[in-house]
Amino acid sequence: MSTEFLPATQSSAGRTSTTAEPATDPARFEADALVVFLSTDGIGQGAAASLDQATSGLLHQLIKQGDLTGKPCECVSLFAPMGLACQQLLVVGVGATAELNAGLLYRAAATAARQLASRPRQRIGFLAEGSWTNEQLEQAVAGGAVGMVGQDLYRAEKRQHPFSATVWLGAPVEVVRRGKLIADGVNLARRLVNLPPDDLYPETFAEEAATIAGRVGLEIEIWDQPRLERERCRALLAVARGSARPPRLVLLHYRGSGHSDTRPDLALVGKGVTFDSGGLSLKPSEGMVAMKCDMAGAATVLGAMSAIAELGLKVNVIGLMGMVENLVSGKAYKLGDVLTARNGKTIEVHNTDAEGRLVLADVLCYAVDREVDYIIDLATLTGACVVALGMDVVGLFSNHEEWSEKVLSAAKTCGEPIWPMPMFDEYNELLKSDLADVKNIGGRWGGAITAAKFLENFVNETAWVHLDIAGPAFAESSKPHQEGGGSGAMVRTLVETALQLK
Ligand code: BES
Ligand code: MN
Ligand code: ZN
Repeated sequence: MSTEFLPATQSSAGRTSTTAEPATDPARFEADALVVFLSTDGIGQGAAASLDQATSGLLHQLIKQGDLTGKPCECVSLFAPMGLACQQLLVVGVGATAELNAGLLYRAAATAARQLASRPRQRIGFLAEGSWTNEQLEQAVAGGAVGMVGQDLYRAEKRQHPFSATVWLGAPVEVVRRGKLIADGVNLARRLVNLPPDDLYPETFAEEAATIAGRVGLEIEIWDQPRLERERCRALLAVARGSARPPRLVLLHYRGSGHSDTRPDLALVGKGVTFDSGGLSLKPSEGMVAMKCDMAGAATVLGAMSAIAELGLKVNVIGLMGMVENLVSGKAYKLGDVLTARNGKTIEVHNTDAEGRLVLADVLCYAVDREVDYIIDLATLTGACVVALGMDVVGLFSNHEEWSEKVLSAAKTCGEPIWPMPMFDEYNELLKSDLADVKNIGGRWGGAITAAKFLENFVNETAWVHLDIAGPAFAESSKPHQEGGGSGAMVRTLVETALQLK
């Protein structure tokens, strides 16, 4: 089988470049557009000041008039500016200098890039500020490379046109390279999420993973249905039964630590439900229409693993992606069925739409069997998490204070919003079954938490963080910094977490 019919983005096809020119005079830089960052504190000493000088005080003038404020993500375009070699100067705001952070810079650069990508352009310059930290610059570079890419894979008339060449002026080559590789991971996750469910299903998803693994030098293992049966992944297999398409478990191995112990330091586990109809507990159309996004956890794992490999981080990581379709048929699993997960725990099925946790149960058991030190799982797991935290914030659940602090701090470093949720023992009451060890849903309330408590049954004592990305993984509408569709949320945080582990 071939997945060559799947449309590739320009970035993944390698037709766009992002490079650095550490010492070029911005005023003389020839480009379709030049992007400069401006704070609300005024022009300061950096790149904006040198452009202001070259244009005989144009920026000062515009600030005085109130046409330029530097508010976060404000974009002001100046065409054919006198004294500059570029055709257009785009001034993008970053807010108050004292509050500057990597997340804001990611969004500011992405907003500028998205604006400029509205029509085809060849060469775009971005002016790095010497006052930024390397982390901040890295995230700005990533934002620029994500913002220019849209979701219109199948449209004849594209809404966004990735630039042929992006050049970061005044930036260290190595930091720009890292930012670009992180962006590639984010854009990969976005593209996979955006692919329609009839093009991306377990077999083709696994093949895509194999293609990526080959490209970035990751070892890959793909478990087909007979192997999954031998490995006792009966919860995952039950979910897959309603579909004509067989499931897959994809295992990616990255060995960067250099020490002889090949035991993985970290396991990244992703929910890869390529389409979630709800099964016999069928979803209404409104709830089903976006359910191609239900493999976003697995896409995030693949995006992060490819970035980790390309960055050459000094850790051992395995990426585990459970891939199934949750459909309805004469073979589908039923309400009342009792499933035995890989670790022997029995699960009474009360709702076939609570399928993600069943898939994850077996995959988490495997991560535990591999004796990893740390686990992070990512899943578009519950609508309840979206009710609790909204569309833009990831819910964090954990059995391990220290490990959850590490993940929270990595998220903060790259500016991805995430919030810790309670895991009190009391919630376990809601999962008790009369017949089996647990049932697969709690009650009406606290649904994101009972889902996490369910997963906790399959991680033993391993330090574990569960990230519910049901809200942030997929955006119904566009934002100034990113077109709608798959967002690639948490790819950056995973890469940063792996980086801090070494
Ligand atoms: N994939 C859904 C969760 C989801 C909802 C993802 C909205 C993205 C956006 C998940 O499999 C699901 O259906 N969860 C149920 C759980 C319920 C049956 C306990 C839900 O949230 O309603
Ligand atoms: Mn579901
Ligand atoms: Zn689901």
